[in-house]
Amino acid sequence: MTPQPGVRHFIKDTDLSPAEQSEVLDRAAAMKADPFGSTPLAHGAARETVALIFDKSSTRTRFSLAAGVGELGGQALVVNPGEAQMGHKESIEDTTKILERAVAAIVWRTYAHEGLERMAAISHVPVINSLSDDFHPCQLLADLLTIREQLGGTEGRIMTYIGDGANNMGNSYALAGVTAGMHVRIAAPEGWGPAAAVVDEARRVAQQTGGSLEVLTDMRAAASDADVIVTDTWVSMGQEAEKEERVERFGAYQVTEEVMALAAPHAIFMHCLPAYRGFEVSADVIDGPQSVVWDEAENRIHAQKALIAWLLEKSTMAKETL
Ligand code: CP
Repeated sequence: MTPQPGVRHFIKDTDLSPAEQSEVLDRAAAMKADPFGSTPLAHGAARETVALIFDKSSTRTRFSLAAGVGELGGQALVVNPGEAQMGHKESIEDTTKILERAVAAIVWRTYAHEGLERMAAISHVPVINSLSDDFHPCQLLADLLTIREQLGGTEGRIMTYIGDGANNMGNSYALAGVTAGMHVRIAAPEGWGPAAAVVDEARRVAQQTGGSLEVLTDMRAAASDADVIVTDTWVSMGQEAEKEERVERFGAYQVTEEVMALAAPHAIFMHCLPAYRGFEVSADVIDGPQSVVWDEAENRIHAQKALIAWLLEKSTMAKETL
């Protein structure tokens, strides 16, 4: 993707360099401490509306972004699945050219990641991926903020993701985790780790940050001494028809108290939610004392506010072009 000069987008975790990711997370912490202290959408941005387009359903993303945009002094325009003409009656490119005349930023939850790449290639306002089939980078900013809060930092910490390592969360944990200097372990059945291109990119980034990425099939080895244990649903949006097959494939990869006991004594449990108790995680873990999932969900607000403010600030040319 070659974006328009002077416009920054966030459609993949590595769209922020390690230093930039850290800057956004610092800002998120500051915004959490002072939620109404920064209103760039009321003062300084070219526009005050942020488009939130959903091709898939959502609870956390929708509420956290709508609340966050309001706290930034702007207004959120939520477009629910099936409401926009984009992709069936009108091209992504034509829709982008319309939206950039009306909004400060476009946030889009969709299926094929390629659609976000096409939008970001021509948009003069920041484009943010609020989940595609390949990545969920906004979730990872919230997760890293939570790890900072709970463990005092991310660098050198071991983060173990257990389950479907080939889904959007597996890819994003690999990329965002090493960007934050973490040692990321993905535990998944043979052939269900992140895509080869993601593994290569994560290992390149890890060389700069001192992090690492390991892909394992042995969940217990992966959990050993980990600081963070994380999982995700085995049946992501769009995979409902494969439910039976997926439950069988990932059945041995449930995060239980026995798995948590292998991790460091201070280890935390995270999940992007929604969670399916008795499948990817047992109820005693997600509802137990090591779980930080509600803080993690709240942190979507603060992390995305910081991201939007940062992207608007860095996209100086966007204001001049429109
Ligand atoms: N974690 C997450 O993206 O939640 P929603 O699907 O509810 O937005």
